[in-house]
Amino acid sequence: MHFGAIGRVPGDPILGLMEAYAKDSNPNKFDLGVGVFKDAQGLTPIPAAVKQAEQRLLEQQASKSYVGGHGDAAFGRLIGELVLGSDSSLFSNQRAGATQTPGGTGALRLAAEFIEHCLPGRGIWLSDPTWPIHETIFAGAGLKVSHYPYVGADNRLNVAGMLAALEAAPTGDVVLLHACCHNPTGFDLSQDDWRAVLDVVRRRELLPLIDFAYQGFGDGLEEDAWAVRLFAAELPELLITSSCSKNFGLYRDRTGALLVCSHDAEKLVDVRSQLALLARNLWSTPPDHGAAVVAQILGDADLKRLWVEEVEAMRQRIAELRVGLVEALAPHGLSERFAHIAEQRGMFSYTGLSPEQVKQLRERHSVYMVGTGRANIAGADAARLEALAAAIADVCR
Ligand code: LMR
Repeated sequence: MHFGAIGRVPGDPILGLMEAYAKDSNPNKFDLGVGVFKDAQGLTPIPAAVKQAEQRLLEQQASKSYVGGHGDAAFGRLIGELVLGSDSSLFSNQRAGATQTPGGTGALRLAAEFIEHCLPGRGIWLSDPTWPIHETIFAGAGLKVSHYPYVGADNRLNVAGMLAALEAAPTGDVVLLHACCHNPTGFDLSQDDWRAVLDVVRRRELLPLIDFAYQGFGDGLEEDAWAVRLFAAELPELLITSSCSKNFGLYRDRTGALLVCSHDAEKLVDVRSQLALLARNLWSTPPDHGAAVVAQILGDADLKRLWVEEVEAMRQRIAELRVGLVEALAPHGLSERFAHIAEQRGMFSYTGLSPEQVKQLRERHSVYMVGTGRANIAGADAARLEALAAAIADVCR
């Protein structure tokens, strides 16, 4: 037997919730688990701009031959402009480049391999807490993973703790920052906080890796890029992972990019040669469809306008659900306790519910959320917020 010694590992805690939810026959169930946007019908829609772009591709696409190691050049340029700003001089000065990846997770994986191979000995600092896959991707690539405080047991942002930890980080280490809509907590840094982080990063000569998975879901497409653009303008070198899963609704088409900003054009070519080699060994060349869709949308003024409106509608729906849930909790005397839900940004909320309360919510009310108390607010249903609030009140008694 070759496989005799292989044991069983538990399934992914976030993706596992999708399966458990699907099996639940309660018609009044709530899916606040995996981070996907849902509309008023409980569906994760394909944006109209995506449908139109797909139609064009169907008619016009002439080949499905490989795209190169860095993917589609038009996609790379357009996603770079979306992230860094269309007026950024980084692209015209050839100081920034994008490598197309299978989703934001692929970009993180490529970044991990790049750090391990090209910057040996550097550790990485993750927020405590962070998206669980950050932990396993970087540890899996062989990096030493450390943590800076971010949100403590009191369910509040701990900026002082974060800054103190980064102050003590070894020079040269990588620090992973969430550009906006922090996953899992929903607590974002203020502009002053970002400036303070920038100051430590610069003084301690840390290399920032900014994970930008939710552009457009916080305060708006441009607003959410504020910190990324600040860091790109102020620092000579930067890594950014960008995801098109949520804002383009392209989840399963695995569309993302690793953006590198380098201090000069010559060094960027060196770095990109390494990335192409690493990517070749990971996935050879990236999947094309989602990136081709994104390039169609961002490269066409009408489609882009439509898409911007659709992202804004998704953002507003989440913001309204946040306020609506806190209002629905008021009759239960819980609006103050959960006031943070309306202040957090993006899909996720660290509710402050304990693992035991999360378990009770699931068992008694078929409300599914991650065991840490992370709720995907975008999965709530505006017409059933009272029922959700009543379920939460029941487990808070
Ligand atoms: C999430 O955190 O739920 C999303 O980022 C989806 C995922 O892949 O985990």
